[in-house]
Amino acid sequence: MQPDDLAIDIIVDLFETQTGQRISADRRWRITPSLAGLLRETGLESLSDLIVELTRSDDERLPRKVVEALLNNETYFFRDRQVFDHVDKVILPRLAAENASRRRMRVWSAGCSTGQEALSLAMLFASQPSRWHGWQVEIHATDVSHAVIDFARRATYSSFQIQRGLGVSEMLGFFRETPGGWQANRQLTDMVRFDVHNLLAPPPAGEAFDLVLCRNVLLYFDADTRARAFARLSEASRPDGELVLGGGELVLGRAGTFTADAQMHGVFRNGAGGPSRTTAAA
Ligand SMILES: C[S@@+](CC[C@H](N)C(=O)[O-])C[C@H]1O[C@@H](n2cnc3c(N)ncnc32)[C@H](O)[C@@H]1O
Repeated sequence: MQPDDLAIDIIVDLFETQTGQRISADRRWRITPSLAGLLRETGLESLSDLIVELTRSDDERLPRKVVEALLNNETYFFRDRQVFDHVDKVILPRLAAENASRRRMRVWSAGCSTGQEALSLAMLFASQPSRWHGWQVEIHATDVSHAVIDFARRATYSSFQIQRGLGVSEMLGFFRETPGGWQANRQLTDMVRFDVHNLLAPPPAGEAFDLVLCRNVLLYFDADTRARAFARLSEASRPDGELVLGGGELVLGRAGTFTADAQMHGVFRNGAGGPSRTTAAA
């Protein structure tokens, strides 16, 4: 075994402990290039030196930076438009009818990366001011990575990021160009709160969520970790609340208390078993 092989084993374990994600043998090649920038930044020469530094130093930012360099933060506005159309036309009207007396809607974007998913949800509400007038809409957006949450809180995007998924009218209607990039307006940011949070930890405090989006996060969890994640998502959701996973995420393991929507792939209801629903594959 080469010294860096041992270092890679230690990094794989650190990453799994911090995020629940296991880097499989065929994806380990990504570790060295992903950490090259951090080695340059810290002046360390090899992954083995990095492990020595991790053991020696009690600066908690270094292990955090290692983990953050390995996370896949890919996201863009209205990723999978048809899912947002379904949320807008089917899920929100049902939840709105159920919440009509209290006029409050709580949404969780779990694994929100740099915030585009949460702001896309906010745009759905902001696009229909008469429908949501008088409602208290709270979108809580969380991610295990401090770096992406710091970015999301600025809500300012490059020309490349703003054009990924947004039409010109959305771009000009909800963002303004600043020297630092395209900044989301208060109409959106007032609805969204960003926090660092690990999906495997107890859910964010507060009332249960009506709708949870956890898309493209569970992909690299093994079956047991996915089951733990479903337990957390279930704890966070109100009975009959909706859960939306990524389109490509097959629920092969236990989906806890969630029941799959027979019509829309990737959509689940907490504890439901109506005629249009089938129990998710166990
Ligand atoms: C590929 S991005 C998906 C972003 C967005 N949900 C979307 O679909 O466009 C996955 C995000 O999940 C976050 N993540 C990974 N493991 C996590 C965990 N255990 N708890 C919270 N967030 C996690 C990553 O940091 C990353 O930002």
